[in-house]
Amino acid sequence: MPLPGETESEFGVPIPGVILPEADWARTAVKRLPPDGPLDWPTMFGRAAPVVLELGCGNARYTLASAIARPDHDHVAVDVLPVVIRYATRRGNQRGLGNTRFVVKDAQTFVGRYVGEGTVAEVHLYHPQPYHDPREAHRRLVTPKFLADVHRSLGPGGTFVIQTDNPDYWAYLSAVLPVFFAFREQEGPWPDAPEGRSRREILSRSRGLKIFRGEGRRLDGLSRAEALSLAAGLPAPTFRSRGPWCDLDAMEEREGRAEGGPPRGGRTR
Ligand SMILES: C[S@@+](CC[C@H](N)C(=O)[O-])C[C@H]1O[C@@H](n2cnc3c(N)ncnc32)[C@H](O)[C@@H]1O
Repeated sequence: MPLPGETESEFGVPIPGVILPEADWARTAVKRLPPDGPLDWPTMFGRAAPVVLELGCGNARYTLASAIARPDHDHVAVDVLPVVIRYATRRGNQRGLGNTRFVVKDAQTFVGRYVGEGTVAEVHLYHPQPYHDPREAHRRLVTPKFLADVHRSLGPGGTFVIQTDNPDYWAYLSAVLPVFFAFREQEGPWPDAPEGRSRREILSRSRGLKIFRGEGRRLDGLSRAEALSLAAGLPAPTFRSRGPWCDLDAMEEREGRAEGGPPRGGRTR
């Protein structure tokens, strides 16, 4: 258990923020979602501020960094695995991040049911699970309907940031993203995080894998009905996924329950 004043790191890269004395900790867990949405962000955070949503956040390294760097933005990070949210929540609490909430939920359900239309400024998705086994392809997060729902959740000019180390996933994304977003590929690391925005990015780069990054600006001229109609005509993510990154995914899956857990890279004062 890290002590106040300590910083943490994983794979030799510091996890943003410093652990505060317990009296300054925040409460970042959303323990229970109402049966129906949408969630009311100003009520949740006690103020009106731009909302940044991270989906499939894992240990939420990006959200922690962004919440510290942008105290004038509110952050919501979602993952389907309770254990990773437990670790992320503890880090958010210990850093006193009152502008952050962590939620255990399937991201498709969260975006479809709990995010009001046009209520989010940014959606971030780092390294969605590729599911190499064809029998599991139906579990892939990014489907045309999901993209239409991300489009609906963003306000005018809102942005969708996505990255993967899986070329097959990226080929699929490159085909479908421009239907909903004015999309541009980001060459090289994001300037705010030269060593990697997420745990998976840092791990993949340490294994020499190429990272595919991009940012899409919501196409504001597209109505909800048009977005849904376009989504219905797009292919499902049934691509075959092969290559060296499969081994890394298998390793992650074996160790995965520790993802975001106590940092393996140690901690420093
Ligand atoms: C490869 S990890 C990436 C984690 C983190 N974004 C990163 O880049 O380090 C994929 C994450 O997506 C989560 N995930 C998979 N399917 C999901 C879903 N349907 N909804 C929400 N999270 C999901 C997993 O639990 C896991 O934490």
